[in-house]
Amino acid sequence: MVGSSLVLGGCRGVLDPRGRAASQTSRLAWLMFVIATLVFLLVVGILVAGALRRRGEVADERPDPHDRPGGVMTMIGVALPVVVITIVLLVSFGPLASQASTSGASLTVRITGHRWWWQVSYPDSGVVTANEIHIPAGRKVRLELTSDDVIHSFWIPELAGKRDLIPGQVNEMWIESDDVGRFGGGCAEYCGIGHTHMSAVVVADTPDEFQAWLADQARPAANPADAQLLAGQQVFLGSSCSYCHRVAGTNAQSDFGPDLTHVASRETLGAGAFLNEPDQLARWVTDPPSLKPGTLMPGVQLSDSEVADLVAYLESLH
Ligand code: CUA
Repeated sequence: MVGSSLVLGGCRGVLDPRGRAASQTSRLAWLMFVIATLVFLLVVGILVAGALRRRGEVADERPDPHDRPGGVMTMIGVALPVVVITIVLLVSFGPLASQASTSGASLTVRITGHRWWWQVSYPDSGVVTANEIHIPAGRKVRLELTSDDVIHSFWIPELAGKRDLIPGQVNEMWIESDDVGRFGGGCAEYCGIGHTHMSAVVVADTPDEFQAWLADQARPAANPADAQLLAGQQVFLGSSCSYCHRVAGTNAQSDFGPDLTHVASRETLGAGAFLNEPDQLARWVTDPPSLKPGTLMPGVQLSDSEVADLVAYLESLH
């Protein structure tokens, strides 16, 4: 589903770019489309002209083998691709150089690919989140991309081209959104069974909203405000949840799984596998593969009341 939506989203990104880098790619795509159309019409025209000329000739009138009218066509057939590819190459240099340069970026976001989710951190403020990447609209944002396991590829079609995340290496790219909005995309490199459930969302906020979001995310988790939330926190810290996840301000400090300090502020969970709603979350903690086949998260064995307390606690982490 994500695969097909990526393909469709890719077309939408090229046809309806919403950021500076995607606009450059879009102009190149349209230029190539126009050139390809002209070449296609030329080839069809030559074919039609050849067919009509043949029909005019007497069937048994054999052409003189020394007469080589095809020689001119062969020359055109060689020269035309050289000319076309040279033009496309020359006009690509500008956008390629522009998209390779992250200078002038106002913010750096580090994205680490995992099977099958995205860790998103803001090194300047210490904020760590997952799968939903907030940026200020109208600002150039530098992305540092790496992977913890296998090769992934980050692609938000409406904002920029794709870039691979490779273990042991940091790749760079930049994105910029013209306006506020949510822009979907995800992993564009087959990376295993969970690949289809490795969506990412870029949320472009106004610069003020972005600063407020960043300040909220930098705070440790709120303390449990009532008995149920306290019970939920105890379930979280006393179960296997705390071995893999971090909730800032508690003893749970692992970064093996997504950071849950502000998990309730995210719209979807499981890298877009399901909506962040209590009944879905309850199903997720007890039977993760039912929502995301192949997920590395194990289900936890809890009573119904423990699940209810745990979900209430997680949904309180705004
Ligand atoms: Cu990660 Cu496909």
